[in-house]
Formats: sequence, C-alpha cells, structure tokens
Amino acid sequence: MRYEVDFLVVGSGIAGLSFALKVAPYGKVCILTKGDASEGSTRYAQGGIAAVMYDSDSFDKHIEDTLVAGDGICDREVVEMTIREAPDRIRELVQYGVNFDLDRKGDKFDLHREGGHSEFRILHHKDNTGEEIERGLLEAVRRHPNIELKERQFAIDIITQHHLGQRVTKHTPDIECYGVYALDCDTNRIDTYLARVTLLATGGMGNVYSTTTTPVISTGDGVAMVHRARGVLSDLEFMQFHPTSLYNPAEKPAFLITEAMRGAGAILKDRDGKEFMQKYDSRLSLAPRDIVARAIDNEMKLSGKDYLYLDARGIGKRQLIEGFPTIYAKCLSIGIDITRDMIPIRPAAHYQCGGIKVDRNGQSSIHHLYAAGECSCTGLHGGNRLASNSLLEAVVYAHNAAQDAIGRLSDIGFKTEVPDWNAEGMVLNEEMVLITQTKKELQEIMWNYVGIVRSDLRLQRAFDRLNLIFRETEELYNRSVLIEPLCELRNLIACAYLIIKMARARRQNVGLHYSLDLVEK
Ligand code: FAD
Ligand code: SIN
Repeated sequence: MRYEVDFLVVGSGIAGLSFALKVAPYGKVCILTKGDASEGSTRYAQGGIAAVMYDSDSFDKHIEDTLVAGDGICDREVVEMTIREAPDRIRELVQYGVNFDLDRKGDKFDLHREGGHSEFRILHHKDNTGEEIERGLLEAVRRHPNIELKERQFAIDIITQHHLGQRVTKHTPDIECYGVYALDCDTNRIDTYLARVTLLATGGMGNVYSTTTTPVISTGDGVAMVHRARGVLSDLEFMQFHPTSLYNPAEKPAFLITEAMRGAGAILKDRDGKEFMQKYDSRLSLAPRDIVARAIDNEMKLSGKDYLYLDARGIGKRQLIEGFPTIYAKCLSIGIDITRDMIPIRPAAHYQCGGIKVDRNGQSSIHHLYAAGECSCTGLHGGNRLASNSLLEAVVYAHNAAQDAIGRLSDIGFKTEVPDWNAEGMVLNEEMVLITQTKKELQEIMWNYVGIVRSDLRLQRAFDRLNLIFRETEELYNRSVLIEPLCELRNLIACAYLIIKMARARRQNVGLHYSLDLVEK
C-alpha cells in the first residue's frame, strides 16, 4: 500500500505525540508505532520532569546543574534555551490534560529533587509520571481529527535518493527524506509512506545491553535508520547507566528505583549495610548519575557481589507508601517491604545521551527529517544527562521542530516516483533461535566490554566479536522475509557498532565515557 501524509511521525512516546498535537492544525498527520501506542520509555518514567516554575529556584541554577552534570561538554546555548522554555512547555502539557501532583495547599506543584539538582524542581505524578504524561497525550491525540495513529507498524528505513537509484554517501550534500518504508506487523506487508515532513521519535537503545531499565521497544531503530541513510550521528559513547535498578535478575526490563527516592533521603549502602559514597563524592548518594553508577560498579567489583543496597527506611513509612506507591507495591510483590527492608539494587543501562544530531529546530542533517526525544542529540546533555531533563528535552524539541516544520511545509512536495519496497528473493526464515541467540550474545558483549568502565582492550574485543555477529546477521537479513525481531537485531548491531566506534574515538574520560586506559596517572 502507498500512503501520502503531510507529517509522518515515527514513535508514540512524549516526543512523537507532542509533535503530532502541535502540527495537526496545519495538515494530515500519521503516527506509526511499532507496538501498542503506550509502550515506550515515556510510560515507565518515574521521577518526573525538571523545570523552574517558581522564584524560589532560578533558571541560572538549573542551567548550572545541567552544565555540571554534562561534565563541561554541553552546548551552553542549547541548555539555556531548553531550560528557559521549560515552564511554557509544562503549561502546555497541563493544557493537554496531564496532571502533576500539587503541594499540600493545592496551589503549587509539588516538587521533588534528584541527583545533580541543587533545588527541588522535579514536577511529578506520584512515582509514575511517565504513565500520566503518556495517558494525557494519547487521549489528546486520539481526540484530534487530523491525526491517525497506526499501531504495530514498524518503520524499516527512511526513504532517500538512495531508493531512487542514486549513490548516497556521508559526503553527499543535500540528502533528502521522502518518508519511510514500514512493515505492517500483522500482515507482513511492507508499505510506502510518503511524507512532506518526517519526524523520528523512536526513543532509546537500552536493549543493546543485557541489563536495562528500558522497555523491549528501545532498540535504536531511528539511529540505525539514519546511520544507513548516511545522516550525522553524535555522542553515542555516552550511554547512561542508572545507579539503582531493582536487583531481580529474571526480570526484563529491570525495574527502576527512582532517584527521587535518594532525593527524599534514601542512602546507598554496601552489603554490610555501610555507607560508601563518601569515598567517591562529597555529594554522596545525590552526586550526578555517572559518578554514582561508577562508584556502585567499583564497590560491586571490589566485593565480588552482584548487588548493593538502597536504604529508604529513614524516609518514613507514610511518605514511602504515599509518595512511592508503585515502588512500594512492586518491592512488596517480591517479598521486600521497603519500610523495613533495604532494597537490593544494581546499575542498568538507562538512557542514550547521543543520537541523531539535530540543530536548535530539531532538524537533522537530512532535509525534511526531524528528530526529537531520546533518539536525538541536541547538545543538552553533553557527557551525562541530568536527571529528569530528558522528558523536558523531548517536549521542547518537539515544539521547536513543529514550529520549523510548519513554516517550511508549503515548500515541500511529495516524491511520487519513489518505488515500492523490493522484497524479491526473500525466503521465510523459520529459525528464530538465530535471532534470539545472537541478540543475547550482543547484549552480553556490550555489558561486559562496553559498560560503565571500559578499556582499549575491552573495546577491541567487543569490536572483533561484533564483526562476526554483524556478518552473520547481514547474511540472514539478505535472504529472509522481514520480521520485526530481525529488523530490531540488525538495528541493535548497528547501534552497538556506533557506540564502540565513538567510544574508541573519545580519547579522554569525560561524563559517562570512562576508560581505564585514559585515567590520568
Ligand atoms: P519513547 O517514549 O521510548 O517512545 C519511542 C516510540 O517509538 C515508541 O512508541 C516505539 O514503539 C516507537 N518506535 C521505535 N522504533 C520504531 C520503529 N522502527 N517503527 C515504529 N515505531 C517505533 N526521563 C526523565 O526526564 N524523567 C524521568 O523520570 C525518567 N524516568 C525514566 C524511567 C525509566 C524506567 C526509563 C527507561 C527512562 C526514564 N527517563 C526519564 C527517560 C525518558 O523516559 C525517555 O528518554 C523518554 O520518555 C523518551 O521519550 P521518546 O518519546 O523519545 O521515546
Ligand atoms: C528516575 O526517576 O530516577 C529517573 C529519572 C531520569 O531518568 O531522568
């Protein structure tokens, strides 16, 4: 089937949905999403969204905290723009129907604090903020007559001059995007979506690693598509590991214990119940995430244990049960009463700071292709994202991209000569084990060699192992009927390759990139 839409959005998390709502008054919008509409990292966000809403805080402090967390390599202008725009974007979320908790008097937002923040400035909805944001935005999208939301549609590749038979390299000037090819996961048909403007809002790539807080959909599809289309990517060496995921080995994704709990007073402890963060940073359990995750990793390696503890008992029973109901219930379901027991935790891959390089308007290096949310790299996060700045970045850049795209729409036509997908010669692959086993291998390689602490040897080893997996998978891809797990595996491999490549090129320990070979003696 062939479709023509003014605005094509790939992804139905906070970035895709807020962009769609903004552009919908100006043209026909189609949102493609590969699973159920609500499935994505957005829905799992716990802590909340950072913004300076009152005079007790200041833009300057939020800017400074972001720059410090980013370890000196944030784009300062981007940081300033994003943080100053935050209050307007928050008010819009509320207008769309999103509820944030209010304080006891009920006239101001209740604010939490997280690692790296010098003030209480995290707007939240209990400890399930993302679920509330996703609910509010999805309801608004479903009410809008100009937006069509199509579930179980997997975007395979963005369409460029390459699909018109032209040679496209990373040096080709003026690469253009004409839409995407997408797999209908129910019929296995590959459709052609032509669009005047395309937005990638495909989220992160946490599933490159064996332990991650991100949902199974986070397979770096947008980044891999832009890589194949020869667009510009950046900063992928900066994979953020969240210090505190619940240690419950059989569970995938790993359940998150929000940093807001440390903001409320919970303390990291070793297996003997002793505090250890004083050895690493004067900000103790509330130091920025890269520092805390590395400290935990080191303590685990020194002791040979596979988890440590978060002690939340000091917060008090009532505040724990009322303020963190999701975590309380979850832990209780596996026999841990957080009002009485310490919580077993370990770090998990959580957030990709890098991605599709975009300018201030969310425009990628490929014409008519925008990116927003976790798949993009704006320069806000630098070497390490400040907690709760990613939901903020997603709404700010969805807004900016929408304004820019609306302004350009009348100058962009449909590329009707784009051919349909050529599926000739593809045979049915009946051996799912080739896909599932390779994915596990990849995730273990990345966890063991390209994790929180790296070295030249580990990166080289990962690269060599990946080469074999890459060749085997390309061969499988070229002869198989396309199915979602195979496309995802291929995308994960591309992302792993890019992480390793950028990690090897970064010859200084900064932010989340830490190599034993780069430690200053
Ligand atoms: P997502 O919400 O991940 O959505 C991606 C969408 O793209 C999905 O709809 C998916 O189906 C779709 N998609 C992907 N590939 C394809 C494809 N090939 N074809 C079609 N559709 C596709 N950040 C904060 O600021 N505050 C927090 O408190 C916070 N807590 C977090 C807690 C957890 C457990 C996790 C995992 C992350 C948290 N983050 C938090 C990070 C934040 O949630 C994410 O960065 C953000 O939600 C990403 O939004 P997004 O719209 O970019 O992507
Ligand atoms: C958390 O709640 O700790 C996650 C916040 C974030 O990832 O920004």
